[in-house]
Amino acid sequence: MSLSQLLSDEIKIWYKNNKRDLPWRNTKNPYKIWLSEIILQQTQVKQGLPYYNKFLKAYADVHKLANAEEDEILKMWQGLGYYSRARNLHFTAKYISKECKGKFPKTYKELLKLKGVGEYTAAAIASFAYDEPVAVLDGNVYRVLSRYFGIDTPVNSTEGAKIFKSKAYEILDENKPALHNQAMMEYGALLCKPKSPDCMFCSLNPSCVAFQQNKTKSLPVKLKK
Ligand code: ADE
Repeated sequence: MSLSQLLSDEIKIWYKNNKRDLPWRNTKNPYKIWLSEIILQQTQVKQGLPYYNKFLKAYADVHKLANAEEDEILKMWQGLGYYSRARNLHFTAKYISKECKGKFPKTYKELLKLKGVGEYTAAAIASFAYDEPVAVLDGNVYRVLSRYFGIDTPVNSTEGAKIFKSKAYEILDENKPALHNQAMMEYGALLCKPKSPDCMFCSLNPSCVAFQQNKTKSLPVKLKK
């Protein structure tokens, strides 16, 4: 079996046994997934979770969010910071409610056109909501890939962006992209952590370059800009 296949298989098994039960993982509703991903863009799960629940309670669908007053949304956003996220959230809700009759775009390419939705968020929504075979790349995914394959190209360089993206697609399970992507992110968040990763509990350690060469502390490489 190839290293890529092994990684993809193992993280899914691990995920099924170890995942956190998070509300946005139990839905295919693109509105709810979009809302969760915007909140989580610069925010930890623990901090974002109450906001996610609060927003859904106040605005159960995209029309309710679109029809809300901007001030009310900003007030509810208080404490999360990066207020442009909240303004883009409202802008995009109005766009989808009015221009798209409440229907979310259904492909990665179309999702990418939405204000506040970058490559990561478009891939997350497309894979989680529609099972489109696109790979998500966030800090967690970079870390897992960098360590497992021993990639020392800086993650925030142009060359790094290319290399990591190509690796992410190489390991992507095209039959189960939602599960695959959630599992990769959760593996990075809970086990292959930035500081003191739980290598002793990692079933991938026999084939992990960073573990075998004692490089978990130096990978991934990030350029100071
Ligand atoms: N951080 C960003 N998106 C996430 C998700 N879908 N699940 C857990 N953490 C996340």
